[in-house]
Formats: sequence, C-alpha cells, structure tokens
Amino acid sequence: MQYTPSSNRYKEIPYKRCGNSGLLLPAISLGLWQNFGSVDNFENGRSIIRRAFDRGITHFDLANNYGPVPGSAEENFGTILKKDFPGFLRDELIISSKAGYTMWDGPYGDWGSRKYLLSSLDQSLKRMQLDYVDIFYSHRPDPNTPLEETMMALHTAVKSGRALYAGISNYKAPEARKAIGILRELGTPCVIHQPKYSMFERWVEDGLLDVLEEMGVGCIPFSPLAQGMLTDKYLKGIPENSRASKNDGSLRATDITPERLEQIKALNEIAKQRNQSLAQMAITWLMKDKRVTTVLIGASSVQQLDNNLDSLHQIDYTQEELQKIETILGN
Ligand SMILES: NC(=O)c1ccc[n+]([C@@H]2O[C@H](COP(=O)([O-])OP(=O)(O)OC[C@H]3O[C@@H](n4cnc5c(N)ncnc54)[C@H](OP(=O)(O)O)[C@@H]3O)[C@@H](O)[C@H]2O)c1
Repeated sequence: MQYTPSSNRYKEIPYKRCGNSGLLLPAISLGLWQNFGSVDNFENGRSIIRRAFDRGITHFDLANNYGPVPGSAEENFGTILKKDFPGFLRDELIISSKAGYTMWDGPYGDWGSRKYLLSSLDQSLKRMQLDYVDIFYSHRPDPNTPLEETMMALHTAVKSGRALYAGISNYKAPEARKAIGILRELGTPCVIHQPKYSMFERWVEDGLLDVLEEMGVGCIPFSPLAQGMLTDKYLKGIPENSRASKNDGSLRATDITPERLEQIKALNEIAKQRNQSLAQMAITWLMKDKRVTTVLIGASSVQQLDNNLDSLHQIDYTQEELQKIETILGN
C-alpha cells in the first residue's frame, strides 16, 4: 500500500544538536544491524521504518556488513527508500553507514585503510541506491593503519560529496581525541562518536564522554538495551525468535547469567515503580546525560519500537532512583 508519512511526525520527538555541529538528531534513532537482513521478513522491517518515521525518527543507522547476509540490510533499506521515501523525502532523512569490520575477502575488505573505506562506501551507496550518505563512520580503529590515513579517507568521503559528515565508532578516549584532532586539521569536523553504552556497559564514562564534550562532538550510544537484556523479555527464560535464541553469536543465552537475571529483575521493579517498561527506563537513563545526543535502539517489531518511543513521556529521575539503580549495578 502506498505510504504517506504522518503529518504529525515532527511533533513528538525532541531534536538535539549533535555536538557543536549544525546537525540536529532525534532523541531516539533506529539501527538496522539486525532484523532488516535478507534472512528477515522484509515487510516487518518496512513497517518498522515507516512507523519510526511517522513518529519522528529521522535518523537510520546502517553499516556495510549489516544483514545477515552482510550488505543485505543496506539493500533492503534502499528498496524501502525507493518504494516509500521518494523525491524530497530523502532530505528529511539522516542515513549513516560505516566500514571497519570484515566485509569481503582479501586484504582490502576489512579494517581502516583508505582503499577499504572508500571502496566500501561506494558499494554501500550502490546497495542503498543513494548519491550520498549523511554520516560515514570509521567503524573501529585499526591498530595497523596510521590514524591519519583512516581519517584522510573520511575527509575524502566528505570532500567528494559521498558523505555530508564524518563519524567514528568504538574509539577509546585517547584515540578518539587524536582522530577528532586530525579531522579538524583536515577541515572535516568529526560530528559524532558511536560507542557501546548502556547500564551494563559503562566504559564511556571513564573519559570518552569528557573528550566528546570538550571537543564538541555528539554521542550516539549503541545497544542501549544491551541487545534486549535490559527489557522484560528474558525474565522468564529465552523466548523463541529472541536474539538470545538465535545462533549468530551476538547475544548468547549464556550471557544471561543468574547474576545478570537478578539485576534485570531488580531493575524491572524500579521501572515498574516509575510506570515504565524496563526498556523505557534503560533508554531514558542514557538520555539524562546531556552529552548523549541520541540513543540508537534496535527493534524487531513495531510494538517494540512504539514501546521504546513512549519512553519520552517519562524522562526525569530522582536522586533516589538513580542511587537505587547504581546499587543494583554494583556501583
Ligand atoms: N558501531 C557498532 O559497532 C555497533 C554495534 C552494534 C550495534 N550498532 C548499532 O546500534 C543499533 C542498536 O543495537 P542493538 O540492536 O544491539 O540495540 P538494543 O536496543 O540494545 O537491542 C535491540 C533488541 O532489543 C530487543 N528489544 C528492543 N525493544 C524492546 C522492547 N521494548 N521490549 C522487549 N525487547 C526489546 C529486540 O530484541 P529481539 O530481536 O530479541 O526481539 C531488539 O532487537 C544497531 O542496529 C546498529 O545500528 C552499532
């Protein structure tokens, strides 16, 4: 059926400035790492993307290797764009892609060389049937390639018009500082950093957030729900079709240890007292730090997406709630 975006789409989500840049991003963004590949139900993914846009999500995050199979999330997204977002709707979207993890065989399909990043970006554009992406990331630092070379590749991507902005992902504080500095010298500011950050994954608090604030770079935490652990879905075992039930190795059933489960149960009780789902609490807990620009969620259904977006109704925390959460997390 022909899709007409909701005319209310800009009334629901706040848009926040990404670091010191001119770019505004929705408080919640949607990632296509899982659930949008060739193994997944295309129409389900399409409904999630339509619903996301109807509710004000303008930012969709991809990478060359998202699928499975690698590349298929970009292909499917390109098909959805063609079908549902024709013409000037492209100008209402912020689409990102990345290169840095294994994508093709041989010495040029992995890590951080100029050769890999720029040819991968060309492939991503073809798969998505786009002229440009809004943000192009170095997906991870490469210990064997000079940082200057990787950053120069991002600079070229922007200079050549294949990307509007540059970003980095999974860079620790000192290497992030260096990378941001190099990009700045080249005249292509780094607008955003994408680290893993959730109640269960706190490394960014040991310096990275300070660096980003100091250097005027936005932050988009990924896996805010710890891939589903910070929801109520694993409270009574491993449901069929859940991420932990699959064999792709990103989240294993064994990751949900008895100790984890105890924490999840206790956090779920606090969420209930706040009249929120645990997923909603996990998302708003990240938003309380003003250095976080947008929270990058995943969703396998429209219902999950809706639940996550409804978190915006209750974003404030009392000191007591925050303290109770820290105690549960063992801090
Ligand atoms: N830069 C990087 O290295 C990197 C790495 C990983 C991810 N990312 C990005 O971050 C995005 C998000 O990562 P993620 O998918 O791991 O995020 P996440 O939000 O932590 O996990 C999403 C999963 O949680 C479950 N879920 C979501 N909402 C729920 C709800 N309301 N109730 C119950 N369960 C719920 C679903 O699992 P089920 O499928 O089990 O239903 C969903 O697939 C990715 O798509 C990607 O764009 C980047």
